[in-house]
Amino acid sequence: MKLKKLFHSAVQHGIDADPRGRKTVEKLLKKQKDGAAKLSGTDKELFDEERLWNPYSDSRVINGTGEEDIKTLMVGIDIETAEILVADRLREHGEKIDALMLHHPEGRALGDLEKVMPLQVDMLALVGVPVNQSENYLRPRMDRVARAVHADNLFATERVAELLGFPAFNTHTPADNLVWKFIEKTVCGREFDDLGEILNALLDITEYKYYAKKGIPPIIANGSKGSRPGRVVATEFTGGTNGPEEFLEAQASAGVGTILSMHVTEKSLEKAKEKHVNMIQCSHMASDAIGMNLMLDLLSKEEKNLKTIDVSGFVRVKRK
Ligand SMILES: [Fe+2]
Ligand SMILES: [Fe+2]
Repeated sequence: MKLKKLFHSAVQHGIDADPRGRKTVEKLLKKQKDGAAKLSGTDKELFDEERLWNPYSDSRVINGTGEEDIKTLMVGIDIETAEILVADRLREHGEKIDALMLHHPEGRALGDLEKVMPLQVDMLALVGVPVNQSENYLRPRMDRVARAVHADNLFATERVAELLGFPAFNTHTPADNLVWKFIEKTVCGREFDDLGEILNALLDITEYKYYAKKGIPPIIANGSKGSRPGRVVATEFTGGTNGPEEFLEAQASAGVGTILSMHVTEKSLEKAKEKHVNMIQCSHMASDAIGMNLMLDLLSKEEKNLKTIDVSGFVRVKRK
């Protein structure tokens, strides 16, 4: 399958699993399109055409024309210069690698990371936090993220991929939407007597078991194995990066008892302790691997001969 088509499909799968729902996402895209049509001069020149169809500013084709035929992907949670050099060595040894598929963004996808964060407002609305509250808590956090990535050396990986001739693309929020939906359905939707039971449920998922065997199991960041969970949510799985710590307070007020998270910030943990909200830190790499696996399962339905070479935290697990 052509790179362009593969990436287009990945974005569509992300929309199908989006906490906002497809209708809302399409409405947002239409607004962007209408806004773009009114641009002129430098604003028009600098407008990112991707925004007309792809609602995920943190996911894009990083290198390539899109016309490349893709069957074998090197897949990594993070792919940077080192992994691309490995790809080049493997190619020297006769391995065929048609493209690199990254999870965490590089290049402009990283530069525009904060623009996917408003999705968090809708995700929190699903657990009962009023949108006016979360929107105002989110804005300063988005500004901080934007300023931080703005100062980064963003295009180093992209340049190496270009020099060594590797098409590359990343799926960040589209894959995170898939794992969010999966955890909501397979874990949060069930009844648990205590947090220990939740840990066991997580360990029934292959990627968590794989990482647990390597010494990185899901851990309780706040609460204990015997703690009662109350309402369990997975509000720290998608939306670009962690939300502000005020989200903890807002969720506690909305009746959330336990938050499942890919990674817990110290500030959020402090708030969780203050508000007696249990927090489970599921392994970050395992969680991201689940999202990428779910994405690859969907893409494999369209490209039957899709093969992967796993690097940088990723381990391929196929689901029916
Ligand atoms: Fe992720
Ligand atoms: Fe991640």
